[in-house]
Amino acid sequence: MPKTRGLFITFEGGEGAGKSTQIRHLADRLSRRGFEVLVTREPGGSSGAEAVRHVLLSGAAQSYGTGMEALLFAAARNDHVRHVIRPALERGTMVLCDRFMDSSRVYQGVSGELSADFLGHLERVAIDGTPPDLTIILDIPAAAGLARAQARAIAAGVETPDRYERENIAVHETRRQAFLDIANREPQRCRVIDATRDESTIAGDVMAAVTPLLADYPSAESGAEGGETEGVS
Ligand code: TYD
Repeated sequence: MPKTRGLFITFEGGEGAGKSTQIRHLADRLSRRGFEVLVTREPGGSSGAEAVRHVLLSGAAQSYGTGMEALLFAAARNDHVRHVIRPALERGTMVLCDRFMDSSRVYQGVSGELSADFLGHLERVAIDGTPPDLTIILDIPAAAGLARAQARAIAAGVETPDRYERENIAVHETRRQAFLDIANREPQRCRVIDATRDESTIAGDVMAAVTPLLADYPSAESGAEGGETEGVS
């Protein structure tokens, strides 16, 4: 039976892992094959979630504690799932999301301040029955990722890194390990890709991870190669 629901693919990893670059590559490749593609990101991606995004990234919620931050990320995610992600999947669109539930498991989870039970409840409410079909974890040592993120910020003329980029290398390395632990626990859903290599090699590995999931889609055969990202919203 050919599939009509789109695939939900999330990208995870630390700062400077190259998620947005790789999402663009995958979006290009999928649209060239004739798929509708939606690129989105968290925190944000829907109007309700975008309203919460700046509160989280500015650090304004930080003084209210990790529990408050976790609840806000979950609220934003639930809005994003209900208003953007799920409707797109139901239309048959391939949804590529820059960060999703694993970022909450890792960033809020490694603080050690919240119980697994609390985080598990929040996750279930947030994703509301829509887990990713595939999660690409772009793995890079913390120091290398931070150096890349800093170079990018300088090039963009951004002087102060956001709340999460201000933290030290040990914290980033702990998070990296937490992403790898998730991949070990859920090998069916997660693929770890070495993000220290060049862009096109990584893009090839990402496509190789996605290709088996495209087998049941009729449009995978029909689209011609060529064309740019115009169809990507
Ligand atoms: P952002 O500026 O969007 O960039 P990037 O994804 O490239 O790092 O930053 C999002 C930050 O929010 C990131 O540092 C991780 C953090 N975050 C969480 O702590 N929990 C979450 O659930 C999500 C989605 C993100």
